[in-house]
Amino acid sequence: MNLSDQSPAKAAPGTGKRFLKVGVLVSGNGSNLQSIIDHCEAGSIPAGVACVISNKADAFALERARNHSIPCAVLDHKNFPDRESFDAAMVRILREHSVQLVALAGFNRIVSPVMLEAFPMAILNIHPALLPAFPGNRAQRQAVEHGVKIAGCTVHFVDSGTDSGPIISQAAVPVFGNDTEETLSRRILKEEHKIYPTVIRLYAEGKIRVEGRRVLISQAQEPVDLFLENPPL
Ligand code: GAR
Repeated sequence: MNLSDQSPAKAAPGTGKRFLKVGVLVSGNGSNLQSIIDHCEAGSIPAGVACVISNKADAFALERARNHSIPCAVLDHKNFPDRESFDAAMVRILREHSVQLVALAGFNRIVSPVMLEAFPMAILNIHPALLPAFPGNRAQRQAVEHGVKIAGCTVHFVDSGTDSGPIISQAAVPVFGNDTEETLSRRILKEEHKIYPTVIRLYAEGKIRVEGRRVLISQAQEPVDLFLENPPL
């Protein structure tokens, strides 16, 4: 499936360029949200953050959105009887803002079929591990405890499972002997801030194609000798 066929990105007024409206779902600090906003504002991705929804009223991500005059909403999942009604409320807000792509950025809820059906193959997530290793919570701690030598992050399409949808992009970082969950998280987060905006740009440009579980990127350069070995022996 070529997503450019169904991605309804429109030309930005006066530019003739495709322009994608992104809705970002958050629960916490929002550093990935910040990186997406910064790339949009810098014009390096033909997209804009149309709205931010948080399930936590005290999420710092909301302050980041307000600093950029981005409409934001708080929907506390505890005020809804079930996952479906919570998701239906999110869909209403996302539609009000004409959102075309939904980006989960540190959003700590699993989405239900209500969201998946409203935005088919148009929901992305970033996860701080090289999936399919270490899905679920505290992936960085799982990586440190398991003793892996290489960790990283993944941007993937969201499906009905936990961190299980088709993988679009991954970045790898080394894990050092004295790493803690915190030091590894910081190293991974730096890569998250690079690959998430890049994937959103590729999506907005219609360069992402999905064939079963495999995601293909048009015009991607395949580096021949850029590999990470750790420890370098
Ligand atoms: C990021 O590391 C993101 O990958 C992770 O939460 C952090 C949010 O940081 N997401 C998950 O663990 C989802 N399973 P941020 O709020 O600063 O963007």
